[in-house]
Amino acid sequence: MFYIEKIKDFFKSKYNNYKAFVKVFGCRQNEADAEKIRGLLTAAGFEFTLDADCANLIVFVTCAVRHTAENRIFGHIGKLKNIKVVNPNVIIVIYGCMTEQKEIRDKIFFSYPFVDICFGAKSINVFSKLLCEKLTNKVFNAPHEKKFVKRTSKFKALVSIMTGCNNFCSYCVVPFVRGREISRFSSDIINEIKNLSKNGYKEINLIGQNVNSYQDKETNFASLIKKIDEINGEFVLQFMTSHPKDLSFDLIDTLAKSLHFGRHLHLPLQSGSNKILKLMNRKYTKEKYLEIINYARMKIPDLTITSDIIIGFPGEDQSDFEETLSVIKKAQFTSIFTFIYSSRSGTAASKIPDLLPRSEKVERLQKLKNLQNLISEKILAKMLGEIYRVLVDSYKDGFTKCRTRGNVIIKLDKDYSKFIGKFVDCKVVYVIKSVVYGKIL
Ligand code: 5AD
Ligand code: SF4
Repeated sequence: MFYIEKIKDFFKSKYNNYKAFVKVFGCRQNEADAEKIRGLLTAAGFEFTLDADCANLIVFVTCAVRHTAENRIFGHIGKLKNIKVVNPNVIIVIYGCMTEQKEIRDKIFFSYPFVDICFGAKSINVFSKLLCEKLTNKVFNAPHEKKFVKRTSKFKALVSIMTGCNNFCSYCVVPFVRGREISRFSSDIINEIKNLSKNGYKEINLIGQNVNSYQDKETNFASLIKKIDEINGEFVLQFMTSHPKDLSFDLIDTLAKSLHFGRHLHLPLQSGSNKILKLMNRKYTKEKYLEIINYARMKIPDLTITSDIIIGFPGEDQSDFEETLSVIKKAQFTSIFTFIYSSRSGTAASKIPDLLPRSEKVERLQKLKNLQNLISEKILAKMLGEIYRVLVDSYKDGFTKCRTRGNVIIKLDKDYSKFIGKFVDCKVVYVIKSVVYGKIL
């Protein structure tokens, strides 16, 4: 606790109460990193605020996956300047995938000099050291602090099982900013989940850039699922993200037999054209993809499948796009996330000329969304009259939000806050477009 104690001493000597504002951009991996950062800060005596103006410490956890994310984050960093003018003592920290890139750190150093600490996602373990050194203006050589986690939710937990990625999909910056795959010890993961279950957690989310390639000595992802299945308690097991090339029939068989597995697969397709899939270095064909999901649905009839699609990858012509639409019709996803291709420096795809006009990409994106909306509506309409065991998630503006085991949201038009974090049975009473409404039985 060397660094943490020093951080604590620094803030205690200045303030009676001191608060941190932590803002997260991007994926669940970043949410998990934020829980680690909050854990360290809690140990150092911080409370948390949702108002950056009141904070003594501001931390941004950043994302680099698309240019639009970076632009948005720079907009937010720019706004911190005023906060620093009003409160020159506030410490500003920018962390994450975006600041793992040297050119971004240089840009922040030169153009946003009010930022105090800027470091990348590979260096999360040195956060307390960096903060301590900044505050004291000294250099220390004590070992890194052990991990602290402050969980955001009392019933949903993120459990990181691996970080990094070895796949090098040609468009993706993740292998560069997160590094190669590192799996956690399976015994640590199992202990963590046992404790969570004992403490009443109802949803366990295994997270990793590519969970299917989890490997710790003799434990692979399928055997990890089997071990988790032996843990007592009523909890739903979700995981993301899966890569189609690693979703074997064996793993599907294991999932089909699993009691805890939540009946939802997020399986990014990215494109329905074999030519584009090859250029993307995805290592499967559309035929293989459809074969996998058909097998999964045969083995797990109540399975919900969602996906990610990138529009306008360099070289995607009209016929490639139409192939994507055709696979979308066959795949029958419950929902998809759609993205316009964004060139990321250092990636293989950034060297392929990106000639398609943006207007054309936007038009394709809209066509894809329209098609998917029709499919989603049809799939959700089939839920009418059915009964689901749901986990009550949250309450807002007159509606209680619940999730089925397949991760579909059901809204209840009453205040059931008292059931948040509990399982209840619920019947779907109407479906309007893509919104499913139910009532508690
Ligand atoms: N451009 C657009 N979308 C991207 N994604 C990853 N990299 C890029 C990029 N350069 C999308 C993929 C991935 C999701 C998390 O983000 O669809 O599955
Ligand atoms: Fe990026 Fe591909 Fe790795 Fe996913 S599998 S993180 S898309 S390189």
